[in-house]
Amino acid sequence: MEKTIDENVQGNALDVTPKNNNTKKLFIESYGCAMNFSDSEVVASILSKQGYNTTQILEEADLVLVNTCSIRDKAEQTVRKRLEKYNAVKRDHNPKMKVGVLGCMAERLKEKFLDQEKIVDMVVGPDAYKDIPNLLAEVEDGKDAVNVILSKEETYGDISPVRLNSNGINALVSITRGCDNMCTFCVVPFTRGRERSRDPRSILEEINELSVKGYKEITLLGQNVDSYLWYGGGLKKEFKNATEMQKATAISFSQLLDQVATAQPHMRVRFSTSNPQDMTQDVFVVMAKHKNICNHVHLPVQSGSDRILKEMNRQHTVAQYITLVEKLKEILPDCSISQDLITGFPSETEADHQDTLALMQQVKFAFGYMYKYSERPGTMAARKFEDDIPEATKKRRLTEIVEAQRAHGAYRTQEFVGKTTEVLIERSSKKNQDQWSGRNQQSIVVVFPKETYQPGDFVNVKITNCTSATLIGQAVGLSKA
Ligand code: SAH
Ligand code: F3S
Repeated sequence: MEKTIDENVQGNALDVTPKNNNTKKLFIESYGCAMNFSDSEVVASILSKQGYNTTQILEEADLVLVNTCSIRDKAEQTVRKRLEKYNAVKRDHNPKMKVGVLGCMAERLKEKFLDQEKIVDMVVGPDAYKDIPNLLAEVEDGKDAVNVILSKEETYGDISPVRLNSNGINALVSITRGCDNMCTFCVVPFTRGRERSRDPRSILEEINELSVKGYKEITLLGQNVDSYLWYGGGLKKEFKNATEMQKATAISFSQLLDQVATAQPHMRVRFSTSNPQDMTQDVFVVMAKHKNICNHVHLPVQSGSDRILKEMNRQHTVAQYITLVEKLKEILPDCSISQDLITGFPSETEADHQDTLALMQQVKFAFGYMYKYSERPGTMAARKFEDDIPEATKKRRLTEIVEAQRAHGAYRTQEFVGKTTEVLIERSSKKNQDQWSGRNQQSIVVVFPKETYQPGDFVNVKITNCTSATLIGQAVGLSKA
C-alpha cells in the first residue's frame, strides 16, 4: 500500500498541513551517512509544497530521487546498481518517470552524470536542494537540470523536515554542514563544502516540534559536531573577523548541547560525530550535568599509528587520543566509546597495523565501523600516495580488526550482565516478534520480552545475558526519567 507523507508523521503533527491535495508521487531513497537521511527529509519537505507525497512503490513514482554517498567506491557502486534498476522500471512500467541524483555523488560527478547515466534527468548537490522546484520546472520542459553550487551559508535551518520512514521515536537534527578538516583520504570536504553552523534558535525550534509530536530521542548531526560555532552565520574561519559583540555572544557545541538538554529534559539527546581534535572537556562536563544526554561518544580514530595519522592529516596523536579517552572516563565512567577505523591506508606497515590493534586493546571500544581504505579521486591521498596495500592484505587486516572489535564488544556487553539499564523501546526485535528492541544510553541494543510495554517507553531492563553486540534481559518496570 502507498505510504504517504502524512502517515510518516506521527503524533500531534504541528507542521502537517493537509497534503491531500498532493497528487504527484515521490520515491526517495538514501544511502550513506545519517546526514543524507536527514537531508532527504528536508527534500521531502520542499517537495511536499510542490504537490508530492512520498510513495514506497517505485513503479508508481512520478519522481525518483536517490540521495547518494561517495565515501567509498563500494557506496558509489551500490548507487549505480540502483540507477540500473530505475532504468528498468522506467523502460518497462513507467516511461514518464523522472530521475534525480542528490548528495555527494551528484556533487562529485556533476554534469558527467548526465552523460554517463542516460536515465538521470536532474543532478542536485547537497547545498542546492532549495533549487529543486526550479530544476523540476526545467525537467518538465524537457531539459536536463543541474545545480551543484556549494554554499557558505545554507543550513536548511528554515525548513521543517518531513520525517521519512520514522518510528516516531528517534529523529535526526542537523546542526552543522560541510567540513573544513581535509583528512587526506576523505571526499566529504569536496562534496559537502565548507563547514557552517546552524542558528541555535532554529535547532531548538525543530527539537521542540519533535517533542510536541511525541519523539523521545534526537541525534544532533554534523561531520564534526564539536566544532559547532554560531556567531551569526557563515563560515567558521571568519570568526577571527567577527565583532567583539558577536564573539561575546557566540555559542559553542557544549553550550548548544546544554541548551538542548535543558529545553527538553524528557528527551534523550545524542550527537554524532565527534572529532578527537575538536572535542573538549567542556562537552564531557555538560554530558555529566544532564541525565538526558546519552553516555555515548562516537570518536573515530582511523588508525593507531602516529605516522599514519599524520599522513591522514588527522590533527591528533595516539597519545592525545588516549588522554581524551581517559578524561572522558574520569568525568563519565559509564560512557561508552565507539570508533571508525580505516585499514590499509597507503604505506601502512604490519607494525602500523599492530599499533591499531594495540590501541583497540587499550580502549576496548563498545562497537565500531571499520573500513578498507578506498582511494577517492581528487583527495590529497589519491594525489600524493600510491594505493599500495594489496587487496588481500587489506582484507586480512580488516578481518583482524573486526575480530578484535568483536572481542571488545563482548567485553563491554558482559559488563552489563547482572545490572539494570534504561532502555528506550524503538521497535520489535527482528529475530523475535515477542521481544522489544531498543538501546540503552551507551547505544547498545537491548532485547527483552514485550509484556505490556510500548514503543517509546523508557524501561528499566535487568540484563541476564549478552552477545558481543546485544544485551538480553527482562523489564523490571518503567523508568522514572
Ligand atoms: N566526519 C564524518 C566522517 C564521515 S566519513 C563522521 O565522522 O561521520 C565516515 C567514516 O568513513 C570515516 O570516519 C572513515 O573511517 C571512513 N572513510 C572516509 N573516507 C574513507 C575512505 N576513502 N576509505 C575508507 N574509509 C573511509
Ligand atoms: Fe572527512 Fe575528516 Fe571531515 S573524515 S568529514 S574530512 S573530519
